[in-house]
Amino acid sequence: MARILITSALPYINGIKHLGNLVGSQLPADLYARYMRARGHEVMFICATDEHGTPAEIAAAKAGKPVDEYCAEMHAVQTELARGFALSFDHYGRSSSQRNHVLTQHMARKLGEAGLISEITEEQVYSVADGRFLPDRYIEGTCPNCGYERARGDQCENCTKQLEPTDLINPRSAISGSTDLEVRETRHLFLRQSTLRETLDKWIDSQKGWPVLTTSIAKKWLHDGDGLQDRGITRDLDWGVPAQFDGAPWSGMDGKVFYVWFDAPIEYIAATAEWADAQGLDDSAWERWWRTDKGADDVRYVEFMGKDNVPFHTLSFPATLIGSGEPWKLVDYIKSFNYLNYDGGQFSTSQGRGVFMDQALDLLPADYWRWWLLSHAPESSDSEFTWENFQAGVNKDLADVLGNLVSRVTKFCRSKFGEVVPEGGEFGPQEAALIAALTTRIRAYEGHMQAMEVRKSATELRAIWVLGNEYLQEAAPWSVFKTDSAQAAAQIRLALNLIRLYAVLSQPFIPDASARMMAALNCDDWSWPSDVAAALAHMPTGHAFSVPEVLFAKITDEQREDWASRFAGARD
Ligand code: 2FM
Ligand code: ZN
Repeated sequence: MARILITSALPYINGIKHLGNLVGSQLPADLYARYMRARGHEVMFICATDEHGTPAEIAAAKAGKPVDEYCAEMHAVQTELARGFALSFDHYGRSSSQRNHVLTQHMARKLGEAGLISEITEEQVYSVADGRFLPDRYIEGTCPNCGYERARGDQCENCTKQLEPTDLINPRSAISGSTDLEVRETRHLFLRQSTLRETLDKWIDSQKGWPVLTTSIAKKWLHDGDGLQDRGITRDLDWGVPAQFDGAPWSGMDGKVFYVWFDAPIEYIAATAEWADAQGLDDSAWERWWRTDKGADDVRYVEFMGKDNVPFHTLSFPATLIGSGEPWKLVDYIKSFNYLNYDGGQFSTSQGRGVFMDQALDLLPADYWRWWLLSHAPESSDSEFTWENFQAGVNKDLADVLGNLVSRVTKFCRSKFGEVVPEGGEFGPQEAALIAALTTRIRAYEGHMQAMEVRKSATELRAIWVLGNEYLQEAAPWSVFKTDSAQAAAQIRLALNLIRLYAVLSQPFIPDASARMMAALNCDDWSWPSDVAAALAHMPTGHAFSVPEVLFAKITDEQREDWASRFAGARD
């Protein structure tokens, strides 16, 4: 049994996330966490809301609420949506927690002691109209790297380059739109991450088997042009972790807070401490996941994120951890994703374009979305959500293939043998061939799941469902029953056990439907089918079951058209 630490990128607190955000980190992370638990591993799956910085302040101002109140409310909303999508976090924390305040300040102190923090007087953009500095998202303009016109002061979301507000071309205030901007001096703490360039380069080189997307982004920002630059890690903002505390080797940071991208990844660790607190456990319970001197050296740590997060997780966060000089667990594998587009354009939080998590759950249960999104995960390139594609995926895979098998088998059994696993007959060559084919495909499925190949896993799972349909098509118990009811009983006995097998295998993708399949079978044994023949003999003759409600309803053309037009514009 291995110990696996899984983190998903922390969703910003500034509103409800769209399906593109969901499929870019939380959902595949959940798939992997569920699979690893199903295989008997010890899993710690951590996520949290990312609550500091300009995104939170801007959203709270828009909502007309104090920022702390806004964050508390939005955290509750996001927690409920995570539950709605069956995201199985061990803990869903908050980056504004006391634990994160303490740990972020601790990290900064250690970096300071290691000589990696310098105090610098720098030039920042000041908005005369707004009467304040404009850090990060408070300023927008054209990206100097790719020409994207809506780049923000901290990063261009188009080309992923990390920026300084002063880098932007034609800058404007995101608060007022004012272009009456001037550059003024202000003092900030800088993380001297350029001194860690070689260390990071070697560390990245030693990570064998990372996805190309991850490594290429990391290497690009490590070597291209100006390379890894020292980063300002404090901001002139009110909301955040104060950069002022006793005993720090610097001073004059009154009224300043740490930059959100400095404290957010530290929250992965702090959230694990929040988990331990919530369980009434002491510090050793979280330290064994994060401190290599306290047992974490045998942990495998996997991070899930969208491509825009990769520079922060391959460079900035490791720089913090390594630079602290303390034995923190570093990531072993970074699974990164491209973008999911929406119907010919981009999903956009700021423009309210696309389908958002709350809206999705108002239309259909989570499993419909989970299945479609995961089976179309933007792994090797960007992918696209269209309503036609969504309808086709749901109707074919879930309703026609899986749902139909469950309904046909249970209903036929009820009508001919009653609601019990029927007795009689024996398995022959057809059943042996099915078991052999399933075994091959299940081993392939395991390989893809282990490798976090999300689309390939979905394709294999679908093929496993199809094998069951093909078997029933050929065996045709409905015809066989007329001449040899014992033989039909054996076929249905196998098919009922196949439903249980499907529930177990499908659970990481569609947990609610799997639970309903299992409940209908009156079973609660989720053990993994290492031996397929044994798994298909799991429920003995005479075992009672009940016919479940329709597992997946088809999406009609009217529904599809209605939804397509309802979601054509921007969310209000
Ligand atoms: O890109 C985002 O949505 C960020 N809130 C992700 C933060 S991940 C982390 F490092 F905490
Ligand atoms: Zn750019």
